Amino acid sequence: MEKLFKDTEKLAGWDGLNQAAELLQQGELVAVPTETVYGLAADARQPEAVAKIFHAKGRPADHPLIVHIADVAELSEWTTTVPAYAHTLAAAFWPGPLTFILPKAPHVSDIVTGGHPSVGVRCPSHPLMLALLKQLGTGLAAPSANPYKKISPTTAEQVLYGLNGKISAVLDGGACEVGLESTIVDLTTDTPRILRAGPITRQQLEAVLGCTVEQPKQHSEAVSGNVKAHYQPNTPLLVLPQAELLAKLHTANEKTAVMYYSEQVALQVQGQTLLTLKLAADKARYAQSLYYALHQLDQSEANEIWLEQPPSDDAWSDVQDRLARAAYR
Ligand code: TXA
Ligand code: MG
Repeated sequence: MEKLFKDTEKLAGWDGLNQAAELLQQGELVAVPTETVYGLAADARQPEAVAKIFHAKGRPADHPLIVHIADVAELSEWTTTVPAYAHTLAAAFWPGPLTFILPKAPHVSDIVTGGHPSVGVRCPSHPLMLALLKQLGTGLAAPSANPYKKISPTTAEQVLYGLNGKISAVLDGGACEVGLESTIVDLTTDTPRILRAGPITRQQLEAVLGCTVEQPKQHSEAVSGNVKAHYQPNTPLLVLPQAELLAKLHTANEKTAVMYYSEQVALQVQGQTLLTLKLAADKARYAQSLYYALHQLDQSEANEIWLEQPPSDDAWSDVQDRLARAAYR
């Protein structure tokens, strides 16, 4: 633990950038900061390096990875047909938390795509990650840097908590600004379809494209890797509508952690001997701290987490999606 943590400190900043680039060129795994969550990166052109990702995470081999690129101009290096609307979306949202699924170029390894004929590509906006990608001049295959099915990390410390000893280094870029994984949109069909809700909403995509974007209401397991039980804390999580949470609070004890955002719950937990964590009522700030808060509570004394159900409107669909999976038993 200590050794890796020292490496992390050494890797912070521009000297760290050079060392991270070198390790990646040598086929090693480096956890990298993005604006959404930390990723566990390998050179996407080195299949043996990419294979190490699955081993470190304990992730099934058929779960495809996202290739991260420095610029939209590199999109055609990883894909074959690029429809016009991909360029429209890239112009509006890249660099940023939006992943495209497109037909893969022949050289893209099946290890990256989990054997799928398509590939996920994203241009992230974190400046350190962009600098790393530019320096390397290749794509980085990177899933979120958490053990399979666990909560994604939004700080370098949380990466180490889950993967220490299994990776070569962490490039510390501070706390992630967005805090939840990117929106994934399938662009292999005539109508764009959201495969994973994320920070870029359906309304935003439709406004830019001027056409309908499909977003299945029900959770879909059509794509391997998009599983129902995911993003799970070790401590059981109960997501409760506000009224239910308020009614249940009198049965809580000092081992109950309560995560909430409303003033109504704030008033009632005041003065009680509970572990409490107040999240922002503003969606972007809520999303930014959600995983961080769950990590914190997971490492606390709590034996159960009660979470006040967030608002049900569309702007919160990524938060609702992640919580439904985190609470699934
Ligand atoms: O924000 C993010 O997207 C983060 C950061 C690190 O970029 N990455 C991330 O990766 O969340 P991961 O592996 O945890 O989730 C990516 C998901 C996969 O589970 C899979 O469902 C989907 O992307 N995916 C990737 N390639 C795909 C493909 N060819 N077809 C369908 N789905 C794909
Ligand atoms: Mg993930």
